[in-house]
Amino acid sequence: MRQAGRHLPEYLEVRATAKNFIDFCFSPDKAAEVTLQPIRRYDMDAAILFADILLIPIGLGRDVWFVKGKGPQLNPITVSDISNLSIDGAADRVSSVYETVSKVRAKLDGSKALIGFCGGPWTVATYMIEGQGSPKKEKAKCFAYENPEAMDDLLKALAISSAEYLIHQANAGADVLKIFESWAEGLSPELFERLVINPTAEIIKRVRAAGITKPIMGFPRGAGLNALEYAKMTGITAIAAGTDTPMDKFRDALPNNMPYQGNLDPLALRIGGDVLKRAVQTVLDTASGPHIFNLGHGVTPDVKIENVQAVVNHIRTGDGDYV
Ligand code: CP3
Repeated sequence: MRQAGRHLPEYLEVRATAKNFIDFCFSPDKAAEVTLQPIRRYDMDAAILFADILLIPIGLGRDVWFVKGKGPQLNPITVSDISNLSIDGAADRVSSVYETVSKVRAKLDGSKALIGFCGGPWTVATYMIEGQGSPKKEKAKCFAYENPEAMDDLLKALAISSAEYLIHQANAGADVLKIFESWAEGLSPELFERLVINPTAEIIKRVRAAGITKPIMGFPRGAGLNALEYAKMTGITAIAAGTDTPMDKFRDALPNNMPYQGNLDPLALRIGGDVLKRAVQTVLDTASGPHIFNLGHGVTPDVKIENVQAVVNHIRTGDGDYV
């Protein structure tokens, strides 16, 4: 999950050698190294590529930069900018990411999976329209109502370039592809279908048309019941659940015993001790069928290494030494 490395001293050491975060993402040796670090330390079953969902806007010709304490920043896109996006070659302009993928795959043990990823078109569009993260995405939602054609064009540009991006990652050695739709919350079912389901289905159609048969996971975070339509209509192989999801009820509602992933509260991981132990046990007790243990959202930078290790041990052996 995003920011996973920030609690690791070995991550911070490599991070300090990069000029800035975007440069870091485009440095295959460094990015490959930090992708592998958590696997070395914790022996988890899968590694996630070190990159960011906001690299595709760069491929499309937009500037993205990170400001300490403020997060990602972009120049808010306008209706006329949308017709000037450089869709052709967008995925080629971020090709150092595929180099990272092949470097990781070459070093990662054959028993471990490598997860490649992109952002969901709607989530990436919210950053492009608003110029930064915001709590309610009001500006992006109003843009979708007021400029439906421009919005559809933007989502289409993102779907085309993200599909190319995933195809390159799969061809470079990613075993699983994941689509992070982090801002799927608070959308009416109609908007959800238009802004989330249709563009995601477009990505998956394109990836499959390129002959890629690898599993594709979707993470429509906070989507509530809309997540069920997402599971049925997009063509995903598996779904990730945010912290707010009751894993027993979700299992019963998902189509065809669909594999799911989730959903430990990242704040329980921060608190540790008995709180964390109970939270891990609840996920284990309530999830059933094909289940991949994971957090419900990103790892906070203040978690203790001992607690991450304890979670892994708990899942594997039934108990862990929480602190
Ligand atoms: O954690 C990993 O190393 C896996 C790779 C990964 C990153 N970002 C690296 C990263 C993944 C899968 C992401 C996805 C991502 N990026 C999402 C979707 C998932 C989610 O958490 O909702 C989103 C919304 C982003 C955009 C983004 N990138 C934000 C909001 C931030 C936080 C900025 C801040 O100042 O807090 C980032 C930065 C980022 N992406 C970091 C990492 C490791 C932290 C960079 C650092 O300071 O070292």
